Amino acid sequence: MKKLLFVCLGNICRSPTAEGVMKHLVSQNNLDSEIYIDSCGTSGHHSGENADPRMQTHAQKRGYNLESIARGFNKRDFQEFDYILTMDESNYSNILKEDPSGEFHDKVIPMVNFCKKVQTTEVPDPYYGGPDGFEEVLDILEDACENLLDKVKGELT
Ligand code: 4NP
Repeated sequence: MKKLLFVCLGNICRSPTAEGVMKHLVSQNNLDSEIYIDSCGTSGHHSGENADPRMQTHAQKRGYNLESIARGFNKRDFQEFDYILTMDESNYSNILKEDPSGEFHDKVIPMVNFCKKVQTTEVPDPYYGGPDGFEEVLDILEDACENLLDKVKGELT
């Protein structure tokens, strides 16, 4: 069993989408009992909320149901998860700040490191922008999730 945690700021746009895309792929590969997936935000500001309705609409058009309920990152997540996948540079540095000893540094990886087709340094925050931003989030995350799954599959025992 491998456990993956996707992290953004609010846990209502990008990380719920990463969770939805990855769960879809894992299910298609019949690996639901082998790969556990969750998401959270570095800010708990939107805790308890469903994914942003705009994000849900764009995801739904590609066949993804976003069912996550927002929650904040918890230090226990460092122990609980094998991969902690951040959406942008501020998520990355905020998570590393929670681990001053660096014990869990290797678990924290920018999600864009798994992109092969899309060239980008971050999954940009779509919250204050227009519809194109939500499509871009999906384009980046579909690319990254596919390659992340290949890596994790190779590590299952
Ligand atoms: P997310 O997007 O980090 O992808 O969930 C955001 C959601 C809410 C806010 C910013 C980004 N906000 O400022 O409320």
